[in-house]
Amino acid sequence: MSSAQRPGFGVYVHWPFCLSKCPYCDFNSHVRHAAIDEDRFARAFAREIETTAARAPDRKVSSIFLGGGTPSLMQPRTVGSILDAIGQHWHVASDVEVTLEANPTSVEATRFRGYRAAGVNRVSLGVQALDDASLKMLGRLHSAREALDAVAIARAAFDRYSFDLIYARPDQTPEMWAGELRRAIAEAAEHLSLYQLTIEEGTPFFGLHAAGKLKTPDEALARTLYDVTQEVCGKHGLPAYEISNHARPGAECRHNLVYWRGEEYAGIGPGAHGRLDSGGLRHATATEKRPEGWLMRVEANGHGMVTDDILNSEERADEYLLMGLRLNEGIDPGHYRALSGRALDPARIATLTDEGAITVDASGRLRVTQSGFPVLDAVVADLAA
Ligand SMILES: C[S@@+](CC[C@H](N)C(=O)[O-])C[C@H]1O[C@@H](n2cnc3c(N)ncnc32)[C@H](O)[C@@H]1O
Ligand code: SF4
Repeated sequence: MSSAQRPGFGVYVHWPFCLSKCPYCDFNSHVRHAAIDEDRFARAFAREIETTAARAPDRKVSSIFLGGGTPSLMQPRTVGSILDAIGQHWHVASDVEVTLEANPTSVEATRFRGYRAAGVNRVSLGVQALDDASLKMLGRLHSAREALDAVAIARAAFDRYSFDLIYARPDQTPEMWAGELRRAIAEAAEHLSLYQLTIEEGTPFFGLHAAGKLKTPDEALARTLYDVTQEVCGKHGLPAYEISNHARPGAECRHNLVYWRGEEYAGIGPGAHGRLDSGGLRHATATEKRPEGWLMRVEANGHGMVTDDILNSEERADEYLLMGLRLNEGIDPGHYRALSGRALDPARIATLTDEGAITVDASGRLRVTQSGFPVLDAVVADLAA
């Protein structure tokens, strides 16, 4: 089996700190005004990696993702020590993909070569927007110029890099977005993540939105912006391979494919989720979210895990649908049946096909269509019912 066909095993490592909290973000990220003891965290990461590898031994790691928070606030030697610990306790594939999420400030870009020397071979930059007014509105700490300079530094340091943009921002027209996207594509080598702004409960944007002070596009405009995204990216050789991710064929993020294909991954660090198999059962794991609480648990017990649930067959099958239908390659209904013990309802498949929301190809794979993706949640709910 080639490495493209072999099921992957991913390791996700969460760095939970940021310089400031962006008003739209509900990720597990924390701002600390005192210095962070990186050596203490590095020792705790190594310890949790050792414990997790003892529980899930003999895996071959196909991808590692250092996400956050802002992992580019870590010193390269901290990143190196995390990668060394993974290599010490698991077999690592010779072609392993090692991604680090970076914020595009000038300070962070100076560390890129150090990350490469530590073993990182791909960076994912949170550019978010290409004009300063939008970046200010999003509460970002970098300018558009700084972000593009960081992209150029990433291009020189790494063969593979990606960047994220957030669209469907207040007052954004389809023409403005098409222009921004074309400029982004000119800077992107092989991969772009394009997320529609979502208003998450508990964030400052949620309060502003509820008070009518932050207007996001209505359904029709959001749909047009989505269509513009598909059209412009498709035309420039970066088709969507997942609802929000675009790549030149072959340049897909292998780590994220592990999640969407329902393969196995370990979650290391505060608030990290994992999916680990043992004895034919799939475990959904999660660690303590608070950084200092996680640190104390790891130092006392060797791990920070606070959730370890066995997924029943229905939960496994639903997760396969939910994640797999995000992908352009879709799902294998036979695999769904094997997981859940029952086939997808042919009547529902027929209705959704007639409505143009899904297709079933000659090999039997079920995919969501271009017009089905904007209503993906409803399609999944219908099939899972
Ligand atoms: C967890 S963040 C980490 C990246 C890095 N800290 C940064 O901000 O550049 C990953 C990505 O999620 C996206 N994101 C976070 N919150 C979002 C929201 N409410 N709506 C849309 N995209 C969001 C952003 O594009 C961001 O780059
Ligand atoms: S978007 Fe990125 S930098 Fe901003 S708070 Fe979230 S994780 Fe931190």
